[in-house]
Amino acid sequence: MNSAKFYFSIIYTSVLFLLSLYLVNSREAEGKPGPSKNTSPKVDYILNYDYGELGNADGEDDIDDSVAEDGIRVGKDGFSIQDSSCTPPGGMVFLKKHKSASSTLQTVAKNFCRYYSMPGESPPVGSVSGGYPGPFQPEFLGSPRHPKPYAISTHQVFNLEVEKAIFPENAFFLTSVREPLSLFRSMFEYFYRRWDSEAAVRNRKCGFTCWGAPYAHWLAEEADGGVRFGAEISEYLDRLPKIFNKSAPWAFRAKNFQAFELGLDWTRDDKKYVSGKLNELAKAFDLVVLSEYYYESLVLLRERLCLPWQAMYARSRMVSKPYTKEPFTSSQSNTLKKFYAQDFQIYKYFNQTLQKKITTYGRARMSHDARKLRQMYALCDKQPKRCSFSRPQAAKMTKGEPVDNSVVNTSALVEYMEAHQGSCEWGAFAKLKANEPTGCGQDEILFPNL
Ligand SMILES: *[C@@H]1O[C@H](CO)[C@@H](O)[C@H](O)[C@H]1NC(C)=O
Ligand SMILES: *[C@@H]1O[C@H](CO)[C@@H](O)[C@H](O)[C@H]1NC(C)=O
Ligand SMILES: *[C@@H]1O[C@H](CO)[C@@H](O)[C@H](O)[C@H]1NC(C)=O
Repeated sequence: MNSAKFYFSIIYTSVLFLLSLYLVNSREAEGKPGPSKNTSPKVDYILNYDYGELGNADGEDDIDDSVAEDGIRVGKDGFSIQDSSCTPPGGMVFLKKHKSASSTLQTVAKNFCRYYSMPGESPPVGSVSGGYPGPFQPEFLGSPRHPKPYAISTHQVFNLEVEKAIFPENAFFLTSVREPLSLFRSMFEYFYRRWDSEAAVRNRKCGFTCWGAPYAHWLAEEADGGVRFGAEISEYLDRLPKIFNKSAPWAFRAKNFQAFELGLDWTRDDKKYVSGKLNELAKAFDLVVLSEYYYESLVLLRERLCLPWQAMYARSRMVSKPYTKEPFTSSQSNTLKKFYAQDFQIYKYFNQTLQKKITTYGRARMSHDARKLRQMYALCDKQPKRCSFSRPQAAKMTKGEPVDNSVVNTSALVEYMEAHQGSCEWGAFAKLKANEPTGCGQDEILFPNL
């Protein structure tokens, strides 16, 4: 097998694997008694983002409804009439947060860059940028990087001052949040539960974000020799108040994780601190997507990004019906409410800002366009070509000037990560610290002599 084929098969297998995980997660999320229960289906019909089922049943037949409800003016494409003039932003800063619909949004952010010919910054190792889990620093980007960057769409810890200073003034700042209980379930599965054993995380190729931590460490008993895999979410939650250690590496995964990725001090729970930060974030971000209002958010996003509807399409990763899962006990829910208090406050706040934006767009109009978009997704899941689009003729792909080709200083990167609770005894971090190839795609650049 030549190396291209080899890497392709690895990527392909990982994609399949992630896909199946996503499936499990999204199925799990369905069983949750959510705030969606009593809301009118017309306005809030996308509370669960399991849109795959649309493709089978009623998807295709009712696509052509040229007469929209509630007197909305509908264009030839079936969507409401959109403004004919539109000025696109001059850059894109997508803060990709873990487990909050961010892979699909990343596709949209990349489509934007492709459409308007903007080069994007890349991760130095694996898929996290900027010195993650330390706050974003531009020196920790993959090469070639741009001293005056246009766009980024990778995992990072938001660094408001720095990112506002280096990206274009009219760049679009985008991120997403997710209902904290369902995000917790999903991340526990993603970072910990799906790994059978220490060997599984140790032998995992690349792996720069310390799979297993801190859960595997905290759940270990003396006899386990440091780490333990295979524990259930319920055991973890029952023990969390006792085993939590805020100084341990990756501890922020156990507390206020969304706040952490948004750049807040995740150890502080006073509401005033969070409210102050929320004001700053609301000014910094042009749009904060809620996973639970995925299509509505995309409708708002399209309007701001001046993109064709097809560019809002990201391939569906979820296709199955919900199944029931163990609900949290009330004491477990209370533990989560306490440990993720900032995240609850953040989520509630950005739901309100999103609701206001939906109202401004027009509730009925939103309902119509979100439904159209959902149908478009179902169609394009079956026939991806229907969502292909081409760049405007005028726009030539630029490399962006100036370009900095220097390779990231890996020892500085390791030090920075260690200083921000990002050390790890396995995976790409351990390799990098030992100055060995990481197994990540960037090895060719980092270790050119091998
Ligand atoms: C908490 O974590 C820190 C950093 O790993 C460690 O030094 C300390 O001993 C831990 N505390 C407890 C009580 O385990
Ligand atoms: C978001 O806010 C709206 C309006 O306040 C509320 O009806 C809805 O239940 C909230 N959605 C979620 C997912 O919390
Ligand atoms: C890389 O970073 C280390 C640690 O911060 C520093 O000592 C070293 O001088 C740096 N190397 C280069 C080439 O800048």
